[in-house]
Amino acid sequence: MGDTDVTGVAPVPAEHLVTDVAEDLSVFDADIVEKAGQIIARYPQSRSALLPMLHLVQSVEGRVSQAGIQFCARQLSLTPAEVSAVATFYTMYKRKTCGEHLVSVCTNTLCAVLGGDDIYRTLGEHLGEDGKRLGHNETAGEPGAPGSITLEHAECLAACDLGPVIQVNYEYFDNQTPESAVALVDALRKGERPAPTRGAPLRDFRTAELELAGFWPEDEESYRSTVDGPSAAVETLRGAALAEANSWTAPPMPNAPLPAEEPRAGSSMSGGEKK
Ligand code: FES
Repeated sequence: MGDTDVTGVAPVPAEHLVTDVAEDLSVFDADIVEKAGQIIARYPQSRSALLPMLHLVQSVEGRVSQAGIQFCARQLSLTPAEVSAVATFYTMYKRKTCGEHLVSVCTNTLCAVLGGDDIYRTLGEHLGEDGKRLGHNETAGEPGAPGSITLEHAECLAACDLGPVIQVNYEYFDNQTPESAVALVDALRKGERPAPTRGAPLRDFRTAELELAGFWPEDEESYRSTVDGPSAAVETLRGAALAEANSWTAPPMPNAPLPAEEPRAGSSMSGGEKK
């Protein structure tokens, strides 16, 4: 299986730290400010808009920069430290500029034993240069330029029944092999957009980020008509089909009474009493 390193913990690089330097926010133009307003208006409290806001700034720069953190903080009346804490917690927020495409290889247990580790190692070697394997969150090509590809290993991508799986900009490519994965990234580098196994057509990373912020193409109806493929594959339903063919059923739930509710501090209501 080789020596795929999926456990290394890197020290916090400088770009992860909050600075006191006021950044130039002009990259977030009037259109982005207007979109930020639309996102904030979806929530009763502005701070609840932080996750889609981070996707919005990522759609502009291909990462969450210090400027992006300060933009979110200003729009949401948060501190840069609060925004940074969230941006550095979730792996979908990138601190280094992503390639035109983000290729995520699942190396969690099931995909790993089905070949995910081999796929990740093969892609690292294929995309690397001068005998150096491309590592986690590293980019082949100039980040953001056409044909550039950022490679990452990912934890379970929620498609274990169809493993080993790869996502490109979060769209699924199921039942992959090292050979099919190499063909996929070669097509991406040539500017092609191979059709995912299911779901929406393939976009570039920044457009996918805009969609994650909740902004869809103008012509939403025709866009939706291009979303293809079943959400449940034969493999997904195999257990249910076997149960049906063999008349297997789950045992009934025991009819045990629910425990009485503990009275809450400061409440005069007895257990189980409702307002
Ligand atoms: S282990 Fe890969 S999708 Fe679940």
